[in-house]
Amino acid sequence: MLGKVLLIEDEQKLRRVLQLVLEEAGFQTKSAREGGEGITLWRSWAPDVVITDLRMQPVDGMEVLRFGTEYFPGTPCIILTAFGTVATAVDAMKLGAYDFLTKPVDHSQLIEVVQQAVVEKGKASQHRYEMVGTSPQMEEVRAEIKLLASTDSAVLIQGESGTGKELAARAIHAASSRRSGPFVRINCASIPRELLESELFGHRKGSFTGATENREGVFAAANGGVLFLDEIGDLPMELQPKLLHAVEEKEITPVGGREPKAISVKILSATNQNLEEMVRQGRFRTDLFYRLNTMVLRMPPLRERRGDVGLLARHFAAIFANELGYEPPEISDQALKMLEEYHWPGNVRELRNVMERAVLLSNGREMGDSHLPESMRFEKRVQEKAGDSSLDLIAKEQEMLLSALEQCNWNQTKAAKKLNITRSALRYRLQKYGIKRG
Ligand SMILES: Nc1ncnc2c1ncn2[C@@H]1O[C@H](COP(=O)(O)OP(=O)(O)OP(=O)(O)O)[C@@H](O)[C@H]1O
Ligand SMILES: [Mg+2]
Repeated sequence: MLGKVLLIEDEQKLRRVLQLVLEEAGFQTKSAREGGEGITLWRSWAPDVVITDLRMQPVDGMEVLRFGTEYFPGTPCIILTAFGTVATAVDAMKLGAYDFLTKPVDHSQLIEVVQQAVVEKGKASQHRYEMVGTSPQMEEVRAEIKLLASTDSAVLIQGESGTGKELAARAIHAASSRRSGPFVRINCASIPRELLESELFGHRKGSFTGATENREGVFAAANGGVLFLDEIGDLPMELQPKLLHAVEEKEITPVGGREPKAISVKILSATNQNLEEMVRQGRFRTDLFYRLNTMVLRMPPLRERRGDVGLLARHFAAIFANELGYEPPEISDQALKMLEEYHWPGNVRELRNVMERAVLLSNGREMGDSHLPESMRFEKRVQEKAGDSSLDLIAKEQEMLLSALEQCNWNQTKAAKKLNITRSALRYRLQKYGIKRG
């Protein structure tokens, strides 16, 4: 099987035809009639590639894309555009859509784009969930992950921002007996309060305005697998009793439903807030806290394991260089020293961002301390300084990208060919520089 493709399209005939074309080409497919159904399938089926129409009711393609960039950033999402939605398609590209296809869809182009996207997905996930680090602290984390994965108890993952809490959650799933079941993540901080209950537990048709269909929540989607409640400190007080019930009784009742449904999920939750303190202040329920807190994994801040900095820096440098089509760059001794001495308030995520920038600035040559953010040199607030010597180079590159895109009428596949870089390298640069049509 070449890969799993999810097709979201409200027009029945087109949906059938495209599905057939994809299946004949060897892809495994599933389809949905609108965005809400599509999102549910995306969560439970974890496709390699998603193709979505834009104009759909009640949930449109932009909503699907927004969901994807939040929860499945490594899964390419291709947009179908009809005459009249081109402007929206451009917005979609800006939001991180992989590519777009105009209707009527050219079947061979469809196959070509989907094939490319599947390759892309493979590359993206190769390094994505690798946990790098050989410090004693990381060895301990690895050992704890094994232990925590061997039981069905809930685990609370604590740690500062950017320490790898989500990565650890995925590692627990991968090490558990539920590894072939779904891993479903929900970010309690990014979902509007009034939608969160339905997102968690699902809803019955007609239970509130806008509930035009029955819908599954994340508990149901995670059945047989792992549910990761991210930013649990942001779960509103009024939903906490219902979550407690779900965790204790292993059953859920959708909004507007009467019959509880049994579910089997391992619950992981994460926060960078101090839950104990929140409990003391009456902002988090004690009973729920003790439920989620049965087992705790603490992700150590990067400054407490500086021995891992060099390894992580090389790891990220290799990933970003690869995206740009370069060999992994050498890192100068001086730059390495600076990286190791820095205090990393944003932890591994900050290091990742610093390396992304440095790879771009060093442009395939040795990475030196001049490619690191100015702020690191003074150990002051993280504040990037304009006026870098590489600025001219960047301007030149932007000019080249723009001219190629204009010559190809903003078709990214063609422009990439013209520039003799990969499609992902082009997309990466456009995102980087915020280049968009118009
Ligand atoms: N040990 C590690 N090896 C490789 N990559 C890592 C490691 N730890 C974290 N990362 C990467 O750093 C980034 C941040 O990690 P992650 O999202 O898991 O952190 P987090 O603790 O959930 O952060 P936040 O509190 O901001 O949500 C991700 O890109 C992740 O892949
Ligand atoms: Mg996180």
